[in-house]
Amino acid sequence: MKYINNEKLDEYLINHSEKEPEILSDLNRETNLKVLQPRMISGAFQGRLLSIISKIINPKKILEIGTFTGYSTLCLAEGLEKNGQIHTVDINEELYDLQRKYFKKSSFNSNITQHLGNALEIIPKLDHDFDLIFLDADKINYPKYLDILIIRLKKGGVLLSDNVLWDGKVLNEISQKDKSTKAIVEYNKMLNNRTDMDSVILPIRDGITISIKK
Ligand SMILES: C[S@@+](CC[C@H](N)C(=O)[O-])C[C@H]1O[C@@H](n2cnc3c(N)ncnc32)[C@H](O)[C@@H]1O
Repeated sequence: MKYINNEKLDEYLINHSEKEPEILSDLNRETNLKVLQPRMISGAFQGRLLSIISKIINPKKILEIGTFTGYSTLCLAEGLEKNGQIHTVDINEELYDLQRKYFKKSSFNSNITQHLGNALEIIPKLDHDFDLIFLDADKINYPKYLDILIIRLKKGGVLLSDNVLWDGKVLNEISQKDKSTKAIVEYNKMLNNRTDMDSVILPIRDGITISIKK
């Protein structure tokens, strides 16, 4: 469900925001043609939001959990400082070649490090702290990600968490079987209760929380 919720408004937002770079519209098209569950891609509007947030921060180091086909990786990379690095993690090896194809085509190839595997195992092994982290992977594990990500976030660093409204399901009574919604509800509470983080939920697309480490 989209919260800013009609096609006409969506079209207006896209037409009056920065234009999606051509390489990203190509990637969006190829993702829709060739990849299962293409709706997971950030897309033009959210992509421009990620890009502008990254440009405002001008990070030296970014961590992304959930590369998918690399669309959001390339959006976030637009804000990197010169020689900055984005580390991006995905567990699905079938996506690796498509990610590589577009990273190579882009002007950010040397700024991107791809990690293949379970992010819960990879993050603790990363030897960096980050200025910006984008969490967009397995919802069921969101609560497990919170501590291990905040430890890696620099003071003043920003954490972006995607899908925090989960199709509006966080507003309703949750069935015991619905583990993803339960996890997201728990994550939203945990994040809001953290005394070391200030957070606000933006009702954009499926909900994005923007948090800053104090
Ligand atoms: C919603 S998609 C990411 C979309 C991408 N950020 C974008 O905006 O285009 C979620 C991705 O998380 C990956 N994923 C799921 N569980 C994971 C895990 N435990 N570790 C790393 N990646 C995982 C999936 O393979 C999938 O590609």
